[in-house]
Amino acid sequence: MQGYLQAQFPTFIQYLSAPLHASLLAQRLAALAPGGLNRVFFSNSGTEAVEAALKLALAASDKRSVVYCDNGYHGKTLGALSVTGRAKHRTPFEPLLPRCDSLPFGDLHALRRRLEQGDVAAFIVEPIQGEGGVILPPPGYLAGVRALCDEFDCLWILDEIQTGLGRTGKLFACEWDNTAPDIMVLSKSLSGGLVPIGATLSRDAVWERAYGDIDSFALHTSTFGGGNFAAAAALAALDVLEQDGLCANAAEVGAFLQAGLQHLVDRYPFLVAVRGRGLMLAIEFHQDMRGGVQALVKELAGRIPGQAMATYRMLSGAARAHLEAAAQALEQNLEDMFVLRFMTKLSEEHGVLTFVTANNNRVMRIQPPLVLTREEAECFLSAFASVCEDLATFQS
Ligand SMILES: Cc1ncc(COP(=O)(O)O)c(C=O)c1O
Repeated sequence: MQGYLQAQFPTFIQYLSAPLHASLLAQRLAALAPGGLNRVFFSNSGTEAVEAALKLALAASDKRSVVYCDNGYHGKTLGALSVTGRAKHRTPFEPLLPRCDSLPFGDLHALRRRLEQGDVAAFIVEPIQGEGGVILPPPGYLAGVRALCDEFDCLWILDEIQTGLGRTGKLFACEWDNTAPDIMVLSKSLSGGLVPIGATLSRDAVWERAYGDIDSFALHTSTFGGGNFAAAAALAALDVLEQDGLCANAAEVGAFLQAGLQHLVDRYPFLVAVRGRGLMLAIEFHQDMRGGVQALVKELAGRIPGQAMATYRMLSGAARAHLEAAAQALEQNLEDMFVLRFMTKLSEEHGVLTFVTANNNRVMRIQPPLVLTREEAECFLSAFASVCEDLATFQS
């Protein structure tokens, strides 16, 4: 980036100026992406790349509905939110876009039934649900989606914002299934995480149908989208990705990490599962607190002088129901807090930063930089094992 600034290239913005680096980046992405995705629209974030994809699909199709998956995550602007499957994020802003329907993730029968209705312009999905808790679909799902979208003339939008650019061990996660969408969205690591950028890739025919004439070519634009500075960062990030073999590194170190974590899952009952692919991993926790708060309340009530237990029994049904609901909510929170306590110990005692996924705070994501070495992975595993041991002792 310093080289770029020192060279004093003009940081052109807006497409009419035909910015050099953005053009080179478009060319490079088109060459790398599978499925002849050779039109590229640049924006400044993941959610904007999704907005561009949704608008492109609607402009290219006579149909009006969009289908998305329960528990999926595509961003928080209104269009992307309308195809994000998490009530918590959606509810305060409803009603969202009309004619957006959700389906269970990984269910090809449900997709077929919905597409048979004949009104679906686009189906948007992640190859692996990231924020939903690193959920992998059944094998063959993406190839099945491709076949169904072809059969029913539905545009397939694949959100590779989190999975893309090496994270799962291949440049694009759909390459694991040897398939490709009609429209693909990228962001996050595209510029090495340094400069805001989003990209919406599509096939020629789709772009032409949507924006192929003088009246429609500027229907969707962004002032800063396609800026040279962001594109130069992305070109440099792609260089490093290729030169340092980061896809292969993600596959290799990811497999090592997953095996090490599986060992710990087998050993500690509060770890339910490790799952993922490459360096897109997650660990699911389960620390059952059911009945814990109520037992504590009963114990305390028994120790208070006087007739606390008798008073409790004389409470109205409604009052008791409220108390029990409160105890249950507290127990749920305590369960969530177990993961937070785990993360805090990892951070404070071992200097390792982790976080939970957006849709599920009992799932800790393990998505380190793709440059992670095997030694660093070993270091993480020993820190993780040490926190497991501490908390297992603390539990007993
Ligand atoms: C799969 C996926 N799509 C879209 C987005 C939204 O990206 P942004 O936060 O840059 O708007 C995210 C962000 O986490 C994501 O994981």
